[in-house]
Formats: sequence, structure tokens, C-alpha cells
Amino acid sequence: MNFTQDIRVDNESIELINYLPNIGINNVREEILEGLRATPKYLSPKFFYDGKGSDLFEQITHLKEYYPTRTEKKIISSLGEKLDVSFKNLHVIELGSGDSSKISLLFNQISADELKTVTYFPVDISQSAIEKSASELIQQFSLKNITGIVVDFFHQLKLIPKPGRRLFCFFGSTIGNFDTSQARGFMKQLGNTMQSGDSLLLGMDMVKNISVLESAYNDDKGVTEEFNKNILSVVNNLTDSDFSTSGFEHYAFFNVEKSRIEMHLKALKDVEVNLGSEKFHISKGETIHTENSCKFNLDDIERFGMWAGLETVQVFNDPNKWFSLVYYKKN
Ligand SMILES: C[S@@+](CC[C@H](N)C(=O)[O-])C[C@H]1O[C@@H](n2cnc3c(N)ncnc32)[C@H](O)[C@@H]1O
Repeated sequence: MNFTQDIRVDNESIELINYLPNIGINNVREEILEGLRATPKYLSPKFFYDGKGSDLFEQITHLKEYYPTRTEKKIISSLGEKLDVSFKNLHVIELGSGDSSKISLLFNQISADELKTVTYFPVDISQSAIEKSASELIQQFSLKNITGIVVDFFHQLKLIPKPGRRLFCFFGSTIGNFDTSQARGFMKQLGNTMQSGDSLLLGMDMVKNISVLESAYNDDKGVTEEFNKNILSVVNNLTDSDFSTSGFEHYAFFNVEKSRIEMHLKALKDVEVNLGSEKFHISKGETIHTENSCKFNLDDIERFGMWAGLETVQVFNDPNKWFSLVYYKKN
């Protein structure tokens, strides 16, 4: 997570632009402090994703308990002709692109002639994830160009280029990491930046059996636990704080009322943490809320489109209807 280094161009076919320094490291520290001063304490899930966090998330996507990735991948793989998009001269903008493995499933279904006209913009807060995935993609596909954009998409959506007709992809139900008012604000912002003819493919994880949901975030191998605890190392690096990951345990459960998996770090004993001139006391059993993963229903699909001013054109599901991939259009 690179909040200090400026723009860098990698090579002729991959360009990388890092806008995170525009946010300013002091504002990032202030955001972290605000969460730690709050009751209950929280940290934004965007702080999971340094190089190690991105690698751990990729490992999570391969876990037997973690159904969302394989379910969404099956839906994307079988889109074929059903998706009503022309890829000729299209600009594909993938928000929260991670390892880009889902977009490659989409590119696999496009003819080589069309693919040559497609420009791909992976957009992520993790520079290392973009660097790694872009260099893999460029070997695999003859795209016109890849331009990686390192931004915080919640605050810097306006910086995403408008080179022509665009397909936004927001996979992984990452929209579920926002609470309702953040999701409304984000969809509104996204709708405002979209132009007539632009479209959006949005991955949404749907409500289902609680035991399926809870085991997806409590895997046997402890990878999710390691991923959750990594947020403390990222915070230490960004703020020079002295969190010790061994003082906390992973705690994830489904909050029925709010229809979301909540991920927390629970203090195993009383903990003192120093961050600059501030000292935080975290009592044994107290938690730091690190992530929400909202689970949606059919009404949410329409509501998201309405917030963004988009028409809901197509909804693709798996046979169990565990996951929805929604295609919206800006008219
Ligand atoms: C849940 S993962 C999903 C990754 C991938 N799209 C998938 O479906 O497997 C969320 C992704 O969004 C990125 N991300 C999280 N918060 C972000 C933010 N505020 N701005 C930009 N990217 C962010 C993370 O680095 C990560 O790659």
C-alpha cells in the first residue's frame, strides 16, 4: 500500500499510475486514529491489502469453505454470448481488481480480434496486486493496453480515466464491505462518473444458510485469521504503532439483523498500543471491527441500480442463487 511514491511507468505495454500520495499519509493516519478512538473500535478493510494481505486474500479465494469466488467464477465463465456487451474498442475498468483472475475468465470468452481493441484498467489500492496481475495478463492476452490505477476508490473515483465507452467490473461482492450509507454514496458517485453507454457488472453475494456463511469466514487452515490479523501489521507500518498480532484472535459471525458477516479482532488480554503521542487501551474481550461483508437479496439489486441512476439489464446467477452478477447500464 503505497501512499508515498509517485507516478511510475513500468514498460511499453503496462503503465501504472499511483494516486494514493494525493491523499496524504497524514490523512491516512488520521483515518486510522479516528477508528481506534471510536467506541466500538474499527479499522477500514482497505488496510488489509498490502502485498502480504493481497496474497493472503488470493489464498482465501482457493479455500474449500470460501464459496463466493468459485461461485462467481462459474457465473462469469458461462456468460458467453448472453452478456449484451460489444467489446470492440471497450475500456474495461475493474474496481478492486486483486489478482485479476475473474477478468481473465471474461477475456477468455472474447475473440482475439476484439481483444486487440480492448484497454484494461485494473484499479486497486494494492500496487503490488496490480503489478503482479498486469504482468501475468499481458503474457496471457493480446490486449491493446493495460493501465493500472492505484487509488482508494472510495475517495478517488473521479480520477479514473474517461477515455471512451467503459465497462466497469466490480467483482467479489466488494460492495458488501460498505455499510448501507457508504454503499449508497459509492453507487451514487459511480453513477455520476459513468457516461451514457457505460455499463457495470456488479458481483453480489446473496443471503443464504448461516452455517455456510460463517464457515466461509472461519476456515480450518486459519488463513482468514492470518488475513484479519495482517491489518495490524499494515497499521503498524503506516503509523509506527506497536500492535502485536499475538494479542488478538480472529472473530467472525453473521449479524442477522444487519445481514452481514462481521469480522473483528478480539483482544486476548488487556492490551496497550502506542500510536504517535496517543496511547490506546484495549480491554480483554474488546474487539476492533475490521470488516463487514453484507449479504444481499433481490431488492438490493434494484436499489443499487436506483442509487446509481442505472438500468438493471440482466441478472446472472448460479443454480443455488448464492451469488448474483448484475449487469447495469447508464442510458
Ligand atoms: C474482496 S477483495 C476482491 C478481489 C477481487 N475483485 C475478487 O473478486 O477476487 C477486494 C479488493 O479490493 C481492493 N480494495 C479494497 N478497498 C479498496 C479501496 N478503498 N480502494 C481501492 N481498492 C480497494 C483490495 O485490494 C482487493 O483487491
